[in-house]
Amino acid sequence: MHRRPRRNRKSAVIRSLVEETRLSVKDFIFPLFLIDGLNQKVEVNSMPGIFRYSLDLMLQEIEICMKLGIMAFDIFPAYPESKKDKYASESHNPSTFYLGAIQKIKQNFPEVCIMTDVAMDPYSSDGHDGLVMNGKILNDETLEILGKMTLAQAQAGADIIGPSDMMDGRVRYLRNILDEQGFKDISIMSYTAKYASAFYNPFRDALDSAPKSGDKKTYQMDPANLHEALIEAELDVEEGADFLMVKPALAYLDVIRLLKDNFSVPIAAYNVSGEYAMIKASAERGWLDGERAMLESLLCIKRAGANIILSYFAKEYAQLDKP
Ligand code: PBG
Repeated sequence: MHRRPRRNRKSAVIRSLVEETRLSVKDFIFPLFLIDGLNQKVEVNSMPGIFRYSLDLMLQEIEICMKLGIMAFDIFPAYPESKKDKYASESHNPSTFYLGAIQKIKQNFPEVCIMTDVAMDPYSSDGHDGLVMNGKILNDETLEILGKMTLAQAQAGADIIGPSDMMDGRVRYLRNILDEQGFKDISIMSYTAKYASAFYNPFRDALDSAPKSGDKKTYQMDPANLHEALIEAELDVEEGADFLMVKPALAYLDVIRLLKDNFSVPIAAYNVSGEYAMIKASAERGWLDGERAMLESLLCIKRAGANIILSYFAKEYAQLDKP
């Protein structure tokens, strides 16, 4: 036998020399959940180790994460039912706590990168990402609301806008508004291939944002489809997206690879709440080694082609990451 592939696996040193993929804390964006109030830190039931923070405690959490090397955060607000309406009006109320918090975070930590979420669901009494009329999600009418939301987030100091709504034409619509209003430097990370997935439930628990009726299948993609992601990606690139995102990550590694191979903009993958919850739940039962399962999943998301990983594991990963 001249060829013995096992020779390159014979010691830890050789294995690390031939390692093709390496994770780094720099790959991550850490999603954080914000609530109104003071001195609040409430664990999300279905996401052990993940909390909803009031701004004061979120500032502390961001500082801790920065010391671990995490420099990018995606902030999601949880609003009480009393603030929600059909038009998601609270999303662009200049005095709403989410926008105030973005401003404060950027004042305190100008060097961090703050991504914000553009979609109606946290503010919508229907719990949908778009405007609901007679049981239908209206596309173009939703764009107007998303435009106001985007402008408000830009004014608050967001570095990256993350449209997660899956309405058609939103990247161009939002890019135009940003440019017209003098926000040429604000980036757009488009949720390009966002699938109608069962893996978002813990997130909807965290934000109390589950749809009140129906599902999201008329706007989020069908998990059966791969090539349809190319249509979404072509449009997003043409319309001015700076990054393309695939979501969820683990069951969609083929989609990540497809976009990586076909587009030259950076590809992000969202390792979603249900993917986090699955590992945490089985680790709690002793059914798998949570730390190894986390490291393997994150590594494989990167191997599939993701340049950027949004993950609730970011902090835990950073705590383990030693040179
Ligand atoms: C909503 C939004 C969702 C997530 C991010 N933005 C949920 C949904 O579409 O219902 C999911 C994130 C996660 O599960 O971690 N626009």
